[in-house]
Amino acid sequence: MAGRKGSFASQAAIPAAFVFLLFAAQLGAQVLAPTPPMGWNSWNHYACAIDDATVRAQADAMVASGMKDAGYQYVNIDDCWEGERDANGYIYPNKKFPDMKALADYLHAKGLKLGIYSSPGPLTCAKYEGSYGHERQDAESYAGWGVDLLKYDWCSARDYYHGPEIPTAFIKMHDALVKAGRPIVFSMHARGPIWEWGLAAGGNLWRTTGDISNDYGRMTAIGFEEVGLEKYAGPGHWNDPDMLEIGNGKLNDAESRLHMSLWCMLAAPLIAGNDLTTMSPATRAILTNPEVIAVDQDAAGVQAHRVREVGPLEVWMKPMADGSKVVGLFNREQGTLPITVNFSDLGVGGAVQVRDLWAHKDLGQFTGSFSADVGEHDVVLIRIR
Ligand code: GLA
Repeated sequence: MAGRKGSFASQAAIPAAFVFLLFAAQLGAQVLAPTPPMGWNSWNHYACAIDDATVRAQADAMVASGMKDAGYQYVNIDDCWEGERDANGYIYPNKKFPDMKALADYLHAKGLKLGIYSSPGPLTCAKYEGSYGHERQDAESYAGWGVDLLKYDWCSARDYYHGPEIPTAFIKMHDALVKAGRPIVFSMHARGPIWEWGLAAGGNLWRTTGDISNDYGRMTAIGFEEVGLEKYAGPGHWNDPDMLEIGNGKLNDAESRLHMSLWCMLAAPLIAGNDLTTMSPATRAILTNPEVIAVDQDAAGVQAHRVREVGPLEVWMKPMADGSKVVGLFNREQGTLPITVNFSDLGVGGAVQVRDLWAHKDLGQFTGSFSADVGEHDVVLIRIR
């Protein structure tokens, strides 16, 4: 939750007090999500077939597999946990989640965090109970259970909020979360250019695309579509191109590396969507590569921008806090193709050291440009100093 007060004022004649409040809002957001949140979410693999035992098993595997040590922390229950409301309007989980507080305690004891899901409309996307008209009670329940993240998904809210009213749906819940008194990361999904008002409405992350699916074409379409949104991301407030599909059985290793590289370049939340209890060593290695995760989690929090696009070949660059630059050379199409990055396009002169972040290998000194043969649907990710 970022503080949000006053941020809709026009840029003209901004009083000093307003500037202070916006600054405070940004600071508030940064405390909760200083780098893009990392974790796991039930939806991509389990959809509605999720229950308490499965969530606990995923948490156990997050620790045992080394995902937790790599930085993954949130264990997020998506849609389909919701039960009925009592006479006072307080929501209860359905019988698949007998005790939400006990589940939160279980995760917290492992050093993990619990995420939960709702909608600003009366029904969620899977037609379970949403928060419309019950924002205060729901925020109080989440805080009481020990929830650490709320994914607030548009769904049926489309029939209740229109045009300029859309941000108010999120402000209502954000205010309720603040009043409930527990720090809860606020993850938002609405229609339209939410990135333009997401921070002001209290968001820490907001979906910028429709749903990902377990498909190379869909994954690359939404990932590369993030071009131009870089100015809206920063510490505490992140663009979210949806959760990862790595390890769900359709993307090969090259495509999974591309997916991971692109999301890390975009400073996107890294929310795994696979079954952590059965993942292959290759999936595990891709999801936990420390040099690639460091790109995502860099303290500067700058989202990469596209430097060059020639047909299916793309070059993206992410400036890092230590002054180095990470460059992604992406081959979106068939066959192995050479890709070159000219250092002048990166604002870099003289000789630089190049390191390959997937090979974990220093490649030596380069002047003027760097070229690599990049395989089909693959990426070469380098860090230059
Ligand atoms: C929407 C969201 C998904 C998921 C489902 C749950 O489609 O975009 O990520 O949360 O709802 O019903």
